[in-house]
Amino acid sequence: MIALGADHGGYEIKEAVKKYLEDNNIEYKDFGTNSTESVDYPRFGFAVAKAVANKEYKFGILCCGTGIGISIAANKVKGIRAAVCTNEFCAEMTRRHNDANILCMGGRVINSETAVKLADIFLNTSFEGDRHSKRLSLIEDIENGKEI
Ligand code: RB5
Repeated sequence: MIALGADHGGYEIKEAVKKYLEDNNIEYKDFGTNSTESVDYPRFGFAVAKAVANKEYKFGILCCGTGIGISIAANKVKGIRAAVCTNEFCAEMTRRHNDANILCMGGRVINSETAVKLADIFLNTSFEGDRHSKRLSLIEDIENGKEI
């Protein structure tokens, strides 16, 4: 199950990703927004991040104008590794090395076709584990207020 969210700047690419999920029979929940009317991206970033952190959804996909603001909001939630991606290489590597659980993209940065391609790569790439797991543990330590 995928949790989807966007603000007005990411609405259009979120809709394109939604169509891709439907076409591929991938279950999702759309947390909004549902138009190009101006809204505050932290609300959507938080709703999706909370649902992913609670393990109600395996992955989240968040879109705003740049992908940046909504990623900053999502990354405030413990357990979230939200990655802004603008190209195929980053979408693949953030799964392989960072075990990212939320893909963030910008509707003013990439077009719908690229957003769908990045979502497809992100959802179909596995974490490599191994030496990368140790680094994720260090990130967890930071989250838990430990010195590293
Ligand atoms: C909204 O205008 C814009 O600031 C937002 O979509 C996003 O780009 C923030 O990072």
